[in-house]
Amino acid sequence: MRLATCDSRLAKRILILGCGGQVGWELQRALAPLGEVIALDFDSKDHCGDFSQPEAVAATVRALRPDVIVNSAAHTAVDKAESEPEFARKLNATTPGLVAQVAAELGALLVHYSTDYVFDGSGDAPRDEMAATAPLSVYGQTKLEGEQLVQAAGCPHLILRTSWVYAARGANFAKTMLKLAGEREQLKIIADQIGAPTGADLLADVTAHAVKRFLDLRLATCDLRDFPSGLYHCVAGGETNWHDYAQFVFAQARAAGIELKLREVSAIPTSDYPTPAQRPLNSRLDTRKLQVTFGLRLPDWKAGVARMLTEHLKG
Ligand SMILES: NC(=O)c1ccc[n+]([C@@H]2O[C@H](COP(=O)([O-])OP(=O)(O)OC[C@H]3O[C@@H](n4cnc5c(N)ncnc54)[C@H](OP(=O)(O)O)[C@@H]3O)[C@@H](O)[C@H]2O)c1
Repeated sequence: MRLATCDSRLAKRILILGCGGQVGWELQRALAPLGEVIALDFDSKDHCGDFSQPEAVAATVRALRPDVIVNSAAHTAVDKAESEPEFARKLNATTPGLVAQVAAELGALLVHYSTDYVFDGSGDAPRDEMAATAPLSVYGQTKLEGEQLVQAAGCPHLILRTSWVYAARGANFAKTMLKLAGEREQLKIIADQIGAPTGADLLADVTAHAVKRFLDLRLATCDLRDFPSGLYHCVAGGETNWHDYAQFVFAQARAAGIELKLREVSAIPTSDYPTPAQRPLNSRLDTRKLQVTFGLRLPDWKAGVARMLTEHLKG
């Protein structure tokens, strides 16, 4: 069998925006086998990846002419966003909207991430993609506006709504809890917010599968209307609350032989821990659309957290 050695259709360029964040870092790993990856953050030298400059980011995308754009840049400081709504809007909505317009010009796929915070968190059922949105915070509102601008631009796109993201790299809730458990005898942890901790590695791997589907389709048919553009919920399987999540972390640490100072963990309601931004109580997301459309399985959250902790505790 002879293989074409240099087929220009096989040369793919993938642009990652926000590459230094939790998801962006994992994207650099997961997307590397799919093409030439260009990874930009807000302070990149050669090209502007600073989302506070929408036109400059749009010019970057136009100049680089990627086949696929994956945007993991965002204003994710949920409480801070309450006091700087226009800045949050620029990062979460205006710039993603302009990037989506350039993607439409180029026929490029745009993968964009959104959040369970677009919902008000009422009730106790998992929400699907058709559920009514009603953000409680500036972060949630601006992320919703970003979704709408991406959808309106007319580019091939995937918007993955996720929740409670953690990564092996950098700080995360589990590591913070472990540190506190080594220093304090008592902890009070919120127990009435329900969701699924979701690994940045899982999000990046799901993204890579979907990007591969897009690239294969384009190579085979050039008809991008067959690509299942749209909004998808993407979280790990199962559910928990912050209190039980922390208890799982402590149990894993003790099982690994780590001694904790912690003696007592109390479950408290959200109302006992006021924050500038209101959080949804029910962050359950129904992921069946993603699983069926892309033929993927989303593993239970405990598997990913246990893996991350094993690496952290051994490190
Ligand atoms: N984290 C969560 O729990 C969570 C939950 C639901 C949805 N999401 C969504 O998932 C996506 C990825 O989130 P993540 O957890 O990876 O967040 P993250 O770790 O905070 O990463 C966001 C990235 O955006 C960058 N950024 C900040 N200001 C910027 C600017 N002016 N221009 C360009 N980039 C800028 C950050 O840089 P610095 O780190 O240097 O500031 C960082 O690299 C986001 O769309 C987020 O809304 C996250």
